Amino acid sequence: MRSVIITGVGDGIGAAIARGLHDRGHSIVLVSRGEKGRELASELSAPHIRCDLTDEKQVAGMSAEAHRLMGKVDSVVHAAGGYFRQQTVENTDPAFFTGALMNNALTFYNVVRATLGLLRASGHGSIVAVSAAPNVYLNSNIGYAAGKGSIQFMVKQLALELLHSNVTVNGISPGFFGRGKGSYPEGSTKLLQQGRLPGESIGKAVLFLLDNPLITGQLVEVDGGHSINIGAGL
Ligand SMILES: NC(=O)c1ccc[n+]([C@@H]2O[C@H](COP(=O)([O-])OP(=O)(O)OC[C@H]3O[C@@H](n4cnc5c(N)ncnc54)[C@H](OP(=O)(O)O)[C@@H]3O)[C@@H](O)[C@H]2O)c1
Repeated sequence: MRSVIITGVGDGIGAAIARGLHDRGHSIVLVSRGEKGRELASELSAPHIRCDLTDEKQVAGMSAEAHRLMGKVDSVVHAAGGYFRQQTVENTDPAFFTGALMNNALTFYNVVRATLGLLRASGHGSIVAVSAAPNVYLNSNIGYAAGKGSIQFMVKQLALELLHSNVTVNGISPGFFGRGKGSYPEGSTKLLQQGRLPGESIGKAVLFLLDNPLITGQLVEVDGGHSINIGAGL
């Protein structure tokens, strides 16, 4: 059984991943800034650590606390991010752009730096970062695309850097996740919602990547084939 830090747990994909790992008996620590993460943690009887992952010091404290709570850290699932919204580049102001980049790219960088020593010590460490499938980022905004694109390049670079360290690094790129009618971010169209996925399938993909020492540097689209279904349009 793995001891796993899961970042970005609200009521969406991070929560679905947390439920999947919890149901299979893994130890989990949930990390987010807000109340939704705490509520999920209480539902799953798992610890929650409140942390702004853009703040290096807070992330270092979070990592130490997760280690104290679980006794070891084998894996990290980085689902924190967000900033999905359909908008033009003209309507994307610098604050939004920077927020999108920092909450995706910088948070991942901080989490990797803070946990890498623990992952190396585990002897079978693994990292899975959440990016986004093309049908999601191509219909969002330039900030979200920059943030999610950076995750994909960082996965490749880190996987190579850590190739001989017993730490694997992979990414998943989910399509639109189904949270039920009416719960999509403002601006999503009904057409886009047709690609929605059950959370369980995303959790299964994460688990598969977390637990295989021979898979590293891979980006897996978990989108129900939506992205290759070009003929049918988005
Ligand atoms: N929903 C989809 O259809 C979809 C599709 C493709 C990819 N994704 C990606 O999947 C991940 C989860 O997304 P979601 O849709 O489930 O919900 P979301 O609301 O976009 O999730 C973002 C999560 O990250 C946390 N977060 C953001 N910035 C943070 C920071 N600085 N420090 C700590 N936590 C932070 C948020 O919690 P707090 O605000 O409480 O901190 C929230 O739990 C995101 O990376 C998203 O881009 C989602």
